[in-house]
Amino acid sequence: MIKKGIILAGGMGTRMSPLTKAVNKQLLPIYDKPLIFYPLSILMLSKIKDVLIIVNKGQLDQYKKIIPNGNNLGMKISYIEQDSPRGLPDAFILGENFIKKDNVALILGDNFFYGQNLTKMLLNCSKLDDGAKVILHKVSKPELYGVAKIDKFKKIVSIKEKPKKFISDLAVTGLYFFDNDVIKYAKKLKPSKRGELEITDLLNKYRLKNKLKADLIGRGGAWLDTGSIEDFYKTTMFVSAIENRQGFKISCIEEIAFNNSWIGKKEILSSIKFYGKCNYSEYLKKLII
Ligand code: TTP
Repeated sequence: MIKKGIILAGGMGTRMSPLTKAVNKQLLPIYDKPLIFYPLSILMLSKIKDVLIIVNKGQLDQYKKIIPNGNNLGMKISYIEQDSPRGLPDAFILGENFIKKDNVALILGDNFFYGQNLTKMLLNCSKLDDGAKVILHKVSKPELYGVAKIDKFKKIVSIKEKPKKFISDLAVTGLYFFDNDVIKYAKKLKPSKRGELEITDLLNKYRLKNKLKADLIGRGGAWLDTGSIEDFYKTTMFVSAIENRQGFKISCIEEIAFNNSWIGKKEILSSIKFYGKCNYSEYLKKLII
C-alpha cells in the first residue's frame, strides 16, 4: 500500500518566463484555483493523506499562504526546499526522511489529470507493494515526450526520452508509484549530460529487474502537462468548459477531503472563512447544506 506522496513543485519555469520570475509556476492559476491544487487532488483521490511538497528555496512562505499545513483537509502536509532543480529523482534523496521505510507516489507539480475511471485506476496503483508503476497516455507527437513500449501484460519493455525513431506513442506521464528501493536507486544515479538526475534512468533500474509496470489512461481521460504558456492556457480552457457546463469543480481539494470523510462540516466552515467571500467559498457552502 502507498500512503505517502511527494509533489515536486519547484523548478525554474523557464518556458513560462516572465510569468514565473516572481511567482512559482505551481502557484499560478489554472482557471479558478492555483495549479498546485490539481496534483494535490490526484494524491488525495489515491487516498494518500501524508504529503511532502518540494518547493524552491525562498518560495516556502508563498506556498504556506495557500496550503499552510493540511489541517483543514484532514491531511499531513509538510514542505522541504530544493536549492536547485537537480532533476526529478532528487525528490527521493531530499525526501528520504519523509519516506522512511514506506512506499511512495510522486507527482510533478505541473501535471493535470482528469477523466472517468481515473479514481479507480489511482486506487489500484496505490495498492503497489513491490516494484514501480508509471501511468501512460497516448499522444499524437511521441517524439516530444518520454515514451514507453509495453507487452501484453503491461510490463515495460523499453523506455526512451524524446525518441527520434518511433518506438511507441504512449507517453510517460508525471505520476509514478514506487516501492522503498527508490531511495537506494536514486542515490546511485549520476547526472546526465544536461546536469540533472533523470527519471528515465531511475525507471530503467526497475525495468532491468523486470519490476516496471504500467497503467493506461484511456481515451476518455485527459493528461495535460502545463509546462508552456500555450498548455497552461489550454488547461484553463478545459477546466472552465467542464466546470461551467457541469456545475462541479475539478480538483476542489476540500470537496475531495470531505468525500473521503477526512473532514466534516467544521473544517469546511473554517476553509470558507480562510478563503473569504468568493465563488470558491460559495461552492464549499453548497457541500454542507
Ligand atoms: P520541468 O518541466 O522539467 O521544469 P520547469 O517546471 O522548471 O520548467 P522549464 O523547463 O520551463 O524550466 O519540471 C517538471 C516539474 O517538476 C515542474 O513542476 C517543476 C518540478 N521540478 C522540481 O520541483 N525540481 C526539479 O529538480 C525539477 C527538474 C523539476
